[in-house]
Amino acid sequence: MTVFDVEARELSKSYGRIEALRGVSLAVRRGEIYGLLGQNGAGKTTLIKILLGITRGWRGQALLLGQRAGTVRVRRRVGYLPEDHRFPDYHTGYSLLDFYGQLLGLARAVRRARIPAMLDTVGLAGRMHTKIRGYSKGMKQRLGIAQALLHEPDVVFLDEPTDGVDPVGRRQIREMLAQLRSQGKTIFLNSHLLSEVELICDRVGILQRGRMVREGSIAELTRVQGIFVVGLAAGQTLPTAELAQLGFQAVADGAVWDIYLNQGQSIDTVVDWLRGRGLSIRHLVEKRQTLEDLFLQTVSGDVPDRDPIR
Ligand SMILES: Nc1ncnc2c1ncn2[C@@H]1O[C@H](COP(=O)(O)OP(=O)(O)OP(=O)(O)O)[C@@H](O)[C@H]1O
Ligand SMILES: [Mg+2]
Repeated sequence: MTVFDVEARELSKSYGRIEALRGVSLAVRRGEIYGLLGQNGAGKTTLIKILLGITRGWRGQALLLGQRAGTVRVRRRVGYLPEDHRFPDYHTGYSLLDFYGQLLGLARAVRRARIPAMLDTVGLAGRMHTKIRGYSKGMKQRLGIAQALLHEPDVVFLDEPTDGVDPVGRRQIREMLAQLRSQGKTIFLNSHLLSEVELICDRVGILQRGRMVREGSIAELTRVQGIFVVGLAAGQTLPTAELAQLGFQAVADGAVWDIYLNQGQSIDTVVDWLRGRGLSIRHLVEKRQTLEDLFLQTVSGDVPDRDPIR
């Protein structure tokens, strides 16, 4: 049976005249990494804040770990990295986590054992006794991730987790998230970095002006329906003119060909025909686009909502 750790049903939220969310539904399975995409102002942060019980005055249903979202009991099992977080910078990395650990009710011995290990995982071991004031942007972000994971939550919400982090650090964070997933944790992240989302997320949703406009696995969303890429053995050429007579358009793309299928046509017909001609197929895949292509197509013509009044 599929267990959903995060569920939103028909969520709506307005800030005065601004409709930040307009009936958004989504469900995240246990052990899945879900990425929520959308332009500035699309409603991503608002959705996370509703699920965490930070934002009030919304309509719909929000469930976390099968229970009503926002209660103290549920929040204890949830980690959260807010966007644009600002930690008191008179703390050191260690003392900040110790402070959060106390708030989370972690025993002193647990904090002592866990904090250095956690800081080591996010690459801050060497700086744990330096004041946050002296941290770079990426270091603060790493500390924020450590804070979100310190109490070993079952579900983690990360709002732009790799914001300001260098490429090496981003890969470390991705590996950390993959490891959490392998432990069965559920991860929900907001991101603008599409290539990164493509690398790490199992499923994504695209929000546009408060509405969910696309949702699915990366594989589903990036598949271009009706186009196949065919490659032949070295030295062989696709008889494009003859294929056109059969009703299939084929366009060369470097050493391979894109074959366009119309409604009701099957690639099997082309494969059989090529084999019948004695040609050897070395490569056959459904064409894919990048997540960035899909995202840009989805939001094309729309401008980021930077204007507070709609
Ligand atoms: N506290 C608030 N008061 C008034 N309006 C708000 C508030 N929080 C969010 N909004 C508005 O709600 C809409 C959605 O904002 P939200 O922060 O959820 O977007 P986002 O998708 O997270 O954007 P970004 O990518 O820039 O972080 C925007 O129009 C924003 O101006
Ligand atoms: Mg946001």
